Amino acid sequence: MATEATPLIVSGLSASYGVVPALRNVSLSVRSGQIVTLIGANGAGKSTLIKTICGLVRPTAGSVQLFGEDVTGLSPDRLVTKGLSVVPEGRRLFGEMTMLENLELGAYARTDKAAVKRDLEKVLDLFPELRERLSTQAGTFSGGQQQMIAVARALMSAPRMLLLDEPTIGLAPAIVDRIAELIVRIADTGVNILLVEQNAETALSVAAYAYILEGGAIIAEDAAGTLAQSPEVQRAYLGI
Ligand SMILES: Nc1ncnc2c1ncn2[C@@H]1O[C@H](COP(=O)(O)OP(=O)(O)O)[C@@H](O)[C@H]1O
Ligand SMILES: [Mg+2]
Repeated sequence: MATEATPLIVSGLSASYGVVPALRNVSLSVRSGQIVTLIGANGAGKSTLIKTICGLVRPTAGSVQLFGEDVTGLSPDRLVTKGLSVVPEGRRLFGEMTMLENLELGAYARTDKAAVKRDLEKVLDLFPELRERLSTQAGTFSGGQQQMIAVARALMSAPRMLLLDEPTIGLAPAIVDRIAELIVRIADTGVNILLVEQNAETALSVAAYAYILEGGAIIAEDAAGTLAQSPEVQRAYLGI
């Protein structure tokens, strides 16, 4: 089997809003086949990191490598064609459009219509609860279902690297568990995942490796199981 280049390497990434720094020298990587999580409280800089990786915020220093290629500062559109897809914070669905139309938007850059049709079937297999409601307006689904649609839409670009920004926020515990299970199943299909979360318990339970972001800087990293045992992490993030 040929070894795949490392899916994502972020090196020394910094970004600021005006003069206010939001990311300070952030380095992290997602290795092949891994779910990696980045945990941080509200305001830690999690969304800024995702936006900087996907070309929405310009870094002041550092670089982003995707499957061995330097993609620093490339636009979101270009990055989609290179296998990167993002589930943004707050889902950003088009509420007036149907679920199917939202899913089709995820595939907008693809010209391989037959493959898109096959991928729609594969994606709907992951979300059987949505299959019967393709022509329902996206805005009428529950919060958890809308999150699933947002994930499904991201998968319609056939990504090899998926960034998820707080997919469990505001959802009931049973739905959080369902989303966590989906993330594991998506990883099992060969998609590499960076999961950004405030919900440390859920994130550490699905991830192989974890980073902790505070004040825009990585303050700890380790195997997820090891971090979950650390007294500081338990006190600050797990409420133990
Ligand atoms: N568009 C923006 N303009 C100015 N400051 C921002 C903007 N977006 C985020 N910030 C600030 O940057 C910091 C990190 O925000 P953010 O990346 O959204 O954190 P998180 O996603 O971890 O909650 C916060 O202090 C936030 O107030
Ligand atoms: Mg955020």
